[in-house]
Amino acid sequence: MGGILKAPFMKELIRTCGTMFRLGWNERNGGNISVIVDGKEAAKYLDTAVSLRSFDLDIDAAELEHRIFAVTRTGSYFRNVKTDPEYNLGLIRIDRGGKSASLLWGFSGGGAPTSELSSHLRSHIVRLRQDKNHRVVTHCHATNTLAMTFVHRLDDRDFTRTLWKMMTECIIVFPEGVGVLPWMICGNDEIGRVTAEKMEKYRVCIWAQHGIFAAGGSLDEALGLIEAVEKAAHIYLKVMNSRILQSITDVELGKLAEAFGLNYRRDFLDL
Ligand code: 13P
Ligand code: ZN
Repeated sequence: MGGILKAPFMKELIRTCGTMFRLGWNERNGGNISVIVDGKEAAKYLDTAVSLRSFDLDIDAAELEHRIFAVTRTGSYFRNVKTDPEYNLGLIRIDRGGKSASLLWGFSGGGAPTSELSSHLRSHIVRLRQDKNHRVVTHCHATNTLAMTFVHRLDDRDFTRTLWKMMTECIIVFPEGVGVLPWMICGNDEIGRVTAEKMEKYRVCIWAQHGIFAAGGSLDEALGLIEAVEKAAHIYLKVMNSRILQSITDVELGKLAEAFGLNYRRDFLDL
C-alpha cells in the first residue's frame, strides 16, 4: 500500500480541481466533484476495510451499495485542494442498504462531503442505469453559462437549440441536448431529485443563476462537456445583441448529425 495520494485517480482529481479553479468556474467553495473509484484500485493504496466514521445519507442510495467515491468536502476551496488534499477531499463508501456512508480517508479535522451530495448520488444512480461506463459527476459555476440563464428562456429544447447553433461541434459533443432547471434553493434533496430527472435524459443539467452539473465516464469527459457548453454560452453572449447575418440552420444541423451518425434529439430541430 502506497498512500492514497499516489493513486492515479486521486492525482487526476486534484489536478482537475486546480484546472477548474483556474478556469474561473470554482470561486471560493463553489462547485463539487464526485468520482466513482474502483474498489480493487482503491485497495492498492488504502486499507478499505477500515472505516474512520460514518455519515447518514438524505437519500436511499441502495443502488450504489458498496461503491466507493472520491468526493470534495463541503466548504472546500478548489484552489486549496492541491496544497491540502486530505482536508479538502474524502473517500467514502456507501454502506450496505444505502442509508449511510463510511469515510475511508480524508475530510481531516471532521468535515463532511459536499452539500450537493444528494444531487451527485441521485445523478450517479440514473447515469449508471443509462451507461455502465459512467463514473463522474461534477458541478461548477461556469460564468457564461450562468450569465446566459438571465437572458435566455429556460426550456431544454430552446436552450439546447441556441447552444447547438453557436458552435458546430456542440451537437456532436452533446447530441442528446442539455436540461435546464429554474432557480431553486440548492444543497438539498429537492434539487437533487429534479436534477436526477434531467440526468436521465442528459449528461448536462444547468441550474439557472447558479451553474452546471455534468456527468461522464471520466473527469475529462465531464469537463469537456462543460467546456463546450460554456464556450457556446460565451459566443451567445457576444453575438446576442448584434445584427446576425448568418447562422447554422436547423437543416444544416440535421445534415451534420446524420453525417456524424449521431443519436441526437431530432425533435429539438424544426426539420
Ligand atoms: P459545497 O461547498 O457544499 O460543495 O457547495 C458548493 C456549491 O457550489 C453549492 O452549490
Ligand atoms: Zn454551486
